[in-house]
Amino acid sequence: MKSAILHGYMPGFGNDFETEALPGALPHGQNSPQACAYGLYAEQLSGSPFTAPRGINERSWLYRMRPSVRHTGRFGKASLPFWKTAPCLDDHDLPIGQLRWGPPPMPNEGTNFISGIRTMTTAGDVNTQTGMAASVYLVNQSMIDEYFFNADGEMLVVPQSGGLRFFTELGRIEVTPGEICVIPRGMKFRAELLDGPARGYLCENYGAKFTLPDRGPIGANCLANPRDFKTPVAAYEDKETPSELTVKWCGKFYKTKIGHSPLDVVAWHGNYAPYKYDLRTFSPVGAILFDHPDPSIFTVMTAPSGEEGTANVDFVIFPERWSVAEHSFRPPWYHMNIMSEFMGLIYGQYDAKPEGFVPGGISLHNCMLPHGPDATAFEKASTVELKPHKLTNTLAFMFETRYPQHLTSYAASVETLQTDYIDCWTGLDKRFTGTP
Ligand SMILES: [Fe+2]
Repeated sequence: MKSAILHGYMPGFGNDFETEALPGALPHGQNSPQACAYGLYAEQLSGSPFTAPRGINERSWLYRMRPSVRHTGRFGKASLPFWKTAPCLDDHDLPIGQLRWGPPPMPNEGTNFISGIRTMTTAGDVNTQTGMAASVYLVNQSMIDEYFFNADGEMLVVPQSGGLRFFTELGRIEVTPGEICVIPRGMKFRAELLDGPARGYLCENYGAKFTLPDRGPIGANCLANPRDFKTPVAAYEDKETPSELTVKWCGKFYKTKIGHSPLDVVAWHGNYAPYKYDLRTFSPVGAILFDHPDPSIFTVMTAPSGEEGTANVDFVIFPERWSVAEHSFRPPWYHMNIMSEFMGLIYGQYDAKPEGFVPGGISLHNCMLPHGPDATAFEKASTVELKPHKLTNTLAFMFETRYPQHLTSYAASVETLQTDYIDCWTGLDKRFTGTP
């Protein structure tokens, strides 16, 4: 096998990038020369309709050894029974409720990044390109001659334990816990383990792509800054070995056999590309006198729906930060929301749930189901002396969607479901001291 492995990333969010793994591979002054350098084929990969407004129009030009029509043969069906897609209704008979899980167990059998996906919730409808699915991945094998692309949505990967290397058509991305990466819809890749088994979370976004939220009065800086997003430089495999490409398409899986690696892009330019981001570069903005803003202040990226201010998916984090508000209850307040919240913990301890919500675990607070700090957290936060206090060594996140999140049968039956979660609020007794 010959490959050109260039290490490195280009900074910026949604930039128009250009990169080549061999000198002169990228045409200049035009996209589609009569004959490309090195005998490459030119191919456009579109992430938006051709006529999308300029600000959300996304496409890249790929210069590759074979066009993608040669990276698929006839398709046959494939089975990945734990990877579910919306609509996936009535998959179980667990009643509604506030739900929490410990880390799902690593399967006994070999699992790669595709077979190791275990979907927890689905929301919306993939057929109308609305909604999302939240999964965990439990991976103990690298993909070698196995490749994949997802026609159903972009994939936001949130590592929690162990690192992964994604070799995508447009280059290589390595991520470890504390970082995230996004692989666009339709982009072929394989995933390798960096250092032993890997576990983490996956948000499949069926709708419009993630973008950075408008900052409003915050101004031009803070929260997630564009320069901290990294897109890989071009890298390719020149590998003629029997291989298999799996495709996810409207919730079904199909396989095709090919005789080579489809990761044969030698040069590319455009703004439709994978990227990574280190969540520890997020610059939080919050309360500096009293009370605190809504958690939307911690939005890293947002995937809009057609309705203004109403996200198809928001990706929100709860990072290290100072807590300084005076005469205020500092943890999240009690609430009922129209949006549905899937939370995970990457490391440390979450301030509203000091017990039970552990790294690798999950909580689900669905549309209009009440939640908030547990009794222990309430008692402490109501009586503690309000000195400046730093929340350290903590990183939780949330996939929040306008669509109700429906549980899969796996989520309803996995052994780490905490059936006593509701009891975390039972100590919140009536404290009323008024008299008529
Ligand atoms: Fe909440």
